[in-house]
Amino acid sequence: MVAKVLDGREIAKNYRAGLQEEVEKLKSEGITPNLTVVLVGNDGASQSYVNNKKKSAEKIGMKSEIIHLEETTTEEELLKVIDQLNNDTEVHGILVQVPLPKQIEETKILEAISPEKDVDGFSPINIGRLYAGMETYIPCTPLGIMEILKNADMSLEGADVAVIGRSHIVGQPVAKLLTDANATVTLLHSRSKNMKEVLKRSDVIVSAVGKPGLVTKEDVKPGAVIVDVGNTVVDGKLTGDVMYDEVAEVASAITPVPGGVGPLTITMVLNNTLLAAKRINNK
Ligand code: GUN
Repeated sequence: MVAKVLDGREIAKNYRAGLQEEVEKLKSEGITPNLTVVLVGNDGASQSYVNNKKKSAEKIGMKSEIIHLEETTTEEELLKVIDQLNNDTEVHGILVQVPLPKQIEETKILEAISPEKDVDGFSPINIGRLYAGMETYIPCTPLGIMEILKNADMSLEGADVAVIGRSHIVGQPVAKLLTDANATVTLLHSRSKNMKEVLKRSDVIVSAVGKPGLVTKEDVKPGAVIVDVGNTVVDGKLTGDVMYDEVAEVASAITPVPGGVGPLTITMVLNNTLLAAKRINNK
């Protein structure tokens, strides 16, 4: 079997075309969706993510600004910036890029973002709303993964899905979304005793660890669908968790890295910003 390549760039392009139409409609009613991204410090990868988010937002007609603060910014200073953005009626989506420098407590910052503008879905209120089945903002990478799976020609109904990695940003929320889609989910992590056995019987594997070479051909059931969320830089190249070439020989569908989940994550930032602009304006 040669796996179908789940082309994140193509899926994202189609999805963004739909978003662009909605942005244009909202603009004709006098509302321009605005995504404001806060970056603290000079981490190269974070800078490139943030620039990408701004460019992508502008490309579909949104307004987007980056507030770039110094590495030495204090928690108090950052909280002040967030407070201003919370109260700025022109701003619909607020995204504070993580990780933050050591002197700033991340949970305090995420808690300070208005839940109505928290397009990452990282605030404790929105995490709670997600698990309570209430209106919320669903974190962007999990939402992107679900969109990719819609393109995999398989049903999640009753399917065995293995999620590797239990982060608050990806592993745990995607396990929740997959469960809601009626899959049977096993959430695997570094302490899991039977990881290989679970992987081998799974219809879908979502790997979100950041450990190149973690998932091999031997781990994969023939015909399984593979979503690789890993993005580790190895010798200057973005590398996933999955041994792509060999796994593609047995899987029915697989995401590449780069060009798989990444473009969908950004797409869902735009999706949530549009949603925020609509909700704030009762549209
Ligand atoms: N850092 C890595 N991924 C993300 C993300 O999705 N949102 C934010 N705010 N920071 C990140």
